Parts: sequence; C-alpha cells; structure tokens
Amino acid sequence: ALVSLRQLLDHAADSTYALPAFNVNNMEQMLAIMAAADATDSPVIMQASRGARAFANDIVLSHLIRAAIKLYPHIPVCMHQDHGNSPATCMSAITNGFSSVMMDGSLLADGKTPSDFAYNVAVTAKVTEMAHLVGVSVEGELGYLGSLETGKGEVEDGHVFDGTLDRASLVTDPQEAAEFVRFTRVDALAVAISTSHGAYKFSRKPDGEILAMDALKDIHARIPDTHLVMHGSSSVPQDLQDKINAYGGEIAPTWGVPVEEIESGIKHGVRKVNIDTDLRMALTGAIRKVFAESPGEFDPRKYLAPGVDAMSAVCRDRFERFGAAGMA
Ligand code: G3H
Ligand code: 13P
Ligand code: NA
Ligand code: ZN
Repeated sequence: ALVSLRQLLDHAADSTYALPAFNVNNMEQMLAIMAAADATDSPVIMQASRGARAFANDIVLSHLIRAAIKLYPHIPVCMHQDHGNSPATCMSAITNGFSSVMMDGSLLADGKTPSDFAYNVAVTAKVTEMAHLVGVSVEGELGYLGSLETGKGEVEDGHVFDGTLDRASLVTDPQEAAEFVRFTRVDALAVAISTSHGAYKFSRKPDGEILAMDALKDIHARIPDTHLVMHGSSSVPQDLQDKINAYGGEIAPTWGVPVEEIESGIKHGVRKVNIDTDLRMALTGAIRKVFAESPGEFDPRKYLAPGVDAMSAVCRDRFERFGAAGMA
C-alpha cells in the first residue's frame, strides 16, 4: 500500500530503526529495491529527484511506483520527492501521486545560492500547510551539505560554493533546528553533519573531526520527537569501487559514510537514510563485468539482470543493518 513518510517514520521511531531511502530512476532500481524489501520484509521509501522525474517522465515514474505496490501488496511503500527546490515542484509531485515531499529550502530555487533562515522557513511552511491538507508528509532541510574535511559546501550540480566554510556553517545548529521545526511543522528534518552527495565524500575513513555524528546527538536531544534524515549517506564500499575498477572503470580512492556511523545515528533520532550512489555503483560494476567478460553480448537483459541482483544485495544489507527487516 502507498503510505506517507510520517506513517513509516513514526513506526521506525517507536521501534528505534531507520529506513534507507533509495533513489529511483528506472525499472531496474525499483525491482531491486522491492525484491530486497520482500526478502527482508521491510517497508520501503523510494524517492525521485527532479532529475529522475525529468529522465523517466512523471507519468512513467508514478506508474512504476504503482506497479511496485501491485507486485508486493504486503509491503508499505512511500513515494517521496527528493530535494524539491520550490513549492511548485512539491505541488506537482503531489499531483503525480507522491505521498511525501522534500522541500529543500537550504538553497534558493536555483539550487546554487545558499538561502537564509527566513526564506527556508517561508517556503517550507508553505509546502507543509498545503501538503498536510491532503495527508502528504514533508521533509525539510536546515544547514548546507558540505564537508568539514575540505570546508566546501555543495550545490545541486555538485560544484562547491566556497572552500573556507567553518564548522558553524557546515553543521546544523540545534537551537535553529528546534525553531525551524516549530515554525514549519515538518514531519522530518534533514541535517547537515558533513555528509555530501556522490562518491567523493572523504579522503580517509571519517572520524569525529570530519563527520559530525556528535552534532546529531545535540540536535536529537533538543528535538527528540523530530525524525532526522541523513543525506549523502552512501557508504561507497571498497568492494563496489574495486569491482568497477577491475573492469575498466576509474573510481579514484574515496570513502563514504560507514554503515556503523549510521547505526550510531539511528540511536540518536536518524530515521531516514538517503542512498543513491551505492546503487549506482553496484549497477555500474555489474554491467562493466558483463561488458568486459562477454564483449559479444548485446542483449540488455544479460547485463541488467546482474545489475538488479547487485543493487538488491546492497538494499538487503541496508534494510538489515538499519533494523528495518521484519518491520513491513
Ligand atoms: O540528491 C542527489 C541524489 O543523489 C539524486 O541525484 O539529482 O542526479 O538524480 P540526481
Ligand atoms: P548519496 O550520494 O550518498 O547516495 O546520497 C543520496 C542523497 O542524499 C539523495 O538525496
Ligand atoms: Na530527501
Ligand atoms: Zn540528498
């Protein structure tokens, strides 16, 4: 059944687990996520970025999620807009059948310019007021995603807006977070704790210097009833890097967010963990392997089926390790 984000995260909070939120752009990602959810009996959050909606088309995407629900009627599924950049994007998601939207007001609608607190509150509260009228949940974001290791903030297209940002500007402030939630009435809050999108998050295994898991504890202590969301939370596992590189890829050495750090976040209010890069890498590694080993192959099913299996293995692992298995 299609359910709201709020329904899923309230249950996750009651039983102290988190749900991975996997990005979906195509049928293979949907099939992989649903097979893993079915195998582990886990609830599902599938999220589509603006880029996914443009790539797959809103009509195709919304029917893809409906297909998932028909295939697995016993699995609760939330269909979430990832990184909505404006109230208009969130409203068009709702009219296309999404049960949850993220209004990311941490940047202006151009996706490049950092916004101020008043702007963020205004656009997010506007979305919340409308979405809640029709039972749709809202995720907000406070703080700029960016790395404590490099001092660089992140904008939508992956470029950076500075190289000298300090801890105060890269980590969400707990008191501001409390005000933000009170003013906007969001159902979930994405926080900035030095994670960033993509494969290149850290140049070494992150510790407390470059990944601010401690800030989560402060935020959770201040707003214990708010469901926290970690973005940029792919783990970028070494085996996925190695597989891509073994078959002709060029992924430079890098670190993501270790699953054990996410597990500790779950003890402090993290209920939704966004993962896109890990599935991209799993699919790419599997396809590269078939291309390298069977260069005569040209039936897409011959390389997409191993891709689905590789993505599904990652999904199963995260459902289990985040404690979501058995919770459907
Ligand atoms: O927010 C980032 C997600 O990984 C989605 O990425 O905008 O390239 O679809 P995308
Ligand atoms: P990753 O790039 O770490 O997978 O993050 C995805 C994300 O935050 C989507 O909103
Ligand atoms: Na999101
Ligand atoms: Zn994100």
